[in-house]
Amino acid sequence: MDNSTSPWWKSSVIYQVSVGSFRDSNSDGFGDLRGLLESLDYINDGTPRSLGADAIWLNPVMKTPFVDFGYDVSDYYSIDPRFGTMADFDELLAECHRRGMKLIMDMVLNHTSQDHPWFAESRSSRDNPKRDWYIWRDGRAPGKPPNKWKAVVEGSAWVLDEPSMQWYYHAFLPEQPDINWRNTEARQAMLDAFKFWLDKGVDGYRLDLINYLYEDEQLRDNPHKLGVRMYEWQKHVYDRSLPESVAATKLLRRITDSYSERMMMGEVYTDTPEEAAKYAGDGENALHLSFYLDFAMTSWSAEKFRASVDHLEHLLPEKAWPCYYFSNHDLVRHITRFARGGDAVARAKVAAAMILTLRGTPILYYGEEIGMPNSRIKRSDMVDPVGLKWWPIPVGRDGSRTPMQWSASGNAGFSSARPWLPVDPSYVTVNVERQEHEPRSLLSWYRSLIHARRETPALLAGNYRPLDGMPGGVFAYTRELEESCAAVFLNFVSRPQSVKVPSRPGGGSWKVLLSTHGPGGDELEPGKLRLQPDQALICA
Ligand code: GLC
Repeated sequence: MDNSTSPWWKSSVIYQVSVGSFRDSNSDGFGDLRGLLESLDYINDGTPRSLGADAIWLNPVMKTPFVDFGYDVSDYYSIDPRFGTMADFDELLAECHRRGMKLIMDMVLNHTSQDHPWFAESRSSRDNPKRDWYIWRDGRAPGKPPNKWKAVVEGSAWVLDEPSMQWYYHAFLPEQPDINWRNTEARQAMLDAFKFWLDKGVDGYRLDLINYLYEDEQLRDNPHKLGVRMYEWQKHVYDRSLPESVAATKLLRRITDSYSERMMMGEVYTDTPEEAAKYAGDGENALHLSFYLDFAMTSWSAEKFRASVDHLEHLLPEKAWPCYYFSNHDLVRHITRFARGGDAVARAKVAAAMILTLRGTPILYYGEEIGMPNSRIKRSDMVDPVGLKWWPIPVGRDGSRTPMQWSASGNAGFSSARPWLPVDPSYVTVNVERQEHEPRSLLSWYRSLIHARRETPALLAGNYRPLDGMPGGVFAYTRELEESCAAVFLNFVSRPQSVKVPSRPGGGSWKVLLSTHGPGGDELEPGKLRLQPDQALICA
């Protein structure tokens, strides 16, 4: 098991920022790169007064018609004017580096926007030289798509283009045609875009839908299975996770490794962690960090979280490093998910203690540190095509993308203009300004955890060992690295619990580093301990 801290991405806390929703500097109601630049002190000013995240992952900022929140790129070489200019980007990158922080970009390699000039050319005629850059096929019969593959968002994955009477393939929205990774020129064009930002000095990528790059050449239909949505009625053996996609990840890894200290984390979109593990870094082979939906989707239960972590620890190849998140731009914010039947903020504190003390790289989603809830978005305010398509079934993603809540002033201090998505009404009480100087706030808890983590080698890189014999509702584990050790007790239920504190490796008593209930610093003898309801306790 590799526990070295040396590469930055193993010891970093990554903070995900949707630039459009973070801070608006030019009063157009939309967040921008300058807004983020002006807010860097909040993320990390080098002191324990700031959040202390080490790296920022930006949701896509390249030129885009913004049909899918920027995941529809129309030019891989420029910044979308909504977000600012290339000069703003360069300044942000330089400023992050000046502070010792890293900047990670989102890279969408599976598809482009339908507005990309490559697609316009490809679509223009059957014999255009770029025709084969996308996946075009004749239908099975008049009016029938080439096969039965479904788009993730639902419906056929094929669109008939009437002028040429051929169908093009899209794994996601019809506005996002898939690149044909089997075409050498198209693949090279993607690799060039990939190198462009690395040449500029970005520290890494979050690779979108990385297991979707390749599809079966013969377009074989997927076997059937039972499921709720149409997309789930098929076993996706021919339209995703082909060995060619794993091989492409290895190629990308070789490119990444030809630069110094860069990193690739990837979204392996699957419900089986076994599949995602295939992409997880095994030495020089694949992704440095592989996203797993499994952990994020776990419901509020000590036993379920322990099972998910143990399973992942067991599955990952020898040299791979775990990576955890609860929330992102696609999911319902976890404070809302976990709140059912309990105290939302108390649970958010326990969750934060878990993600920031497990073995692995934590990814935080902007606003979770102040407990921004998932917002209810009215039909008339929705912009997410997924939400609009499914309305009134609430699967849209706008609710987790609302503006950052900086203060109780107008538009939550996000913008002086009307924001592109409504601010959640909770901003009056849930905001940075209010929590910043409040020692018991969620924000102060995140800050303390991040700083304690940085100062405790065992929390950064130690082995993970779950503690058995805990009462139901308690998840507890130790972390150990040479002389450094830590023990973490997480009470998921709102009643007191008696737990057994193990003896401290190397002898002596434990010292409380952090507790949701009371100040740290106390000595803790091995033996029986009474945990308070919803308590998180970390000792070293
Ligand atoms: C990924 C992104 C999601 C996007 C989709 C299509 O799942 O996280 O936001 O809509 O890919 O690019």
